[in-house]
Amino acid sequence: MKKIIITIDGYSSCGKSTLAKQLAKKLDYIYIDSGAMYRAVTLFFIRQDVNWRDEAEVKNALKDVHLEFVYNNNSGQAEMHLNDENVEHLIREMLVAEKVSEIAAIGAVRTFAVAQQQKMGARKGIVMDGRDIGTVVFPDAELKIFMTADPAVRVERRYKELYAKNPNITLHEVKENLELRDYIDANREISPLRRADDAIILDNSQLTMDEQLDLVSQWVEDAIMAHSS
Ligand code: CDP
Ligand code: CDP
Repeated sequence: MKKIIITIDGYSSCGKSTLAKQLAKKLDYIYIDSGAMYRAVTLFFIRQDVNWRDEAEVKNALKDVHLEFVYNNNSGQAEMHLNDENVEHLIREMLVAEKVSEIAAIGAVRTFAVAQQQKMGARKGIVMDGRDIGTVVFPDAELKIFMTADPAVRVERRYKELYAKNPNITLHEVKENLELRDYIDANREISPLRRADDAIILDNSQLTMDEQLDLVSQWVEDAIMAHSS
């Protein structure tokens, strides 16, 4: 069957990566979490104390950043490696979440990440989620999804996830972070988060994971059919 590119963009914590993983598994496609790349660059900048308001310093620092998704047999997932270190868990922490949108708004950082993302899709058969995947990274993708969910539902979902790892986290902290990131992501100058004109909107506030997969599986079938001739 013909392989396509599926893009999933949207606000934070609405279920993009959950859906992307479900689809990749079902279709035997590669799943790429583009946000993990911005998170890993952020971790590197924090650790190296890079002054990210200085363009030359950012460009110079990026020369030392090597990102790789490495498949882990135990977790059954591709995990983010930064300069050969597995940082999959570290990049999900609040320390990184607090800074990532600021760093993802920098032109040189986006150029660095987008070039690698486009290479990963060269052979199709890929599901990539993020903020600019349908608009900038793969503007010709065969199926584009723009996900939304009620803000309160999103906060609750992310809170549950983070609380399981760190019981000190507060709902308020999570809410503030989501609101801040959504604001910066949607209002930045370069590649702001927006729905591509040809993206289908999926509001999953009331959908279980099985229901969202059933719905989108039909869209995938339709997209493959439409692009097979
Ligand atoms: O999982 P969550 O929705 O919280 O975020 P993520 O997908 O891990 O992305 C983290 C941050 O990276 C976002 O808030 C954006 O600032 C940035 N990002 C981006 O600018 N472009 C992308 N394609 C993906 C993520
Ligand atoms: O990738 P993104 O930040 O958009 O969200 P996610 O990490 O896929 O999902 C955030 C949380 O919502 C996860 O804990 C999912 O299990 C949960 N979720 C849900 O409860 N119901 C859905 N229909 C989709 C996701």
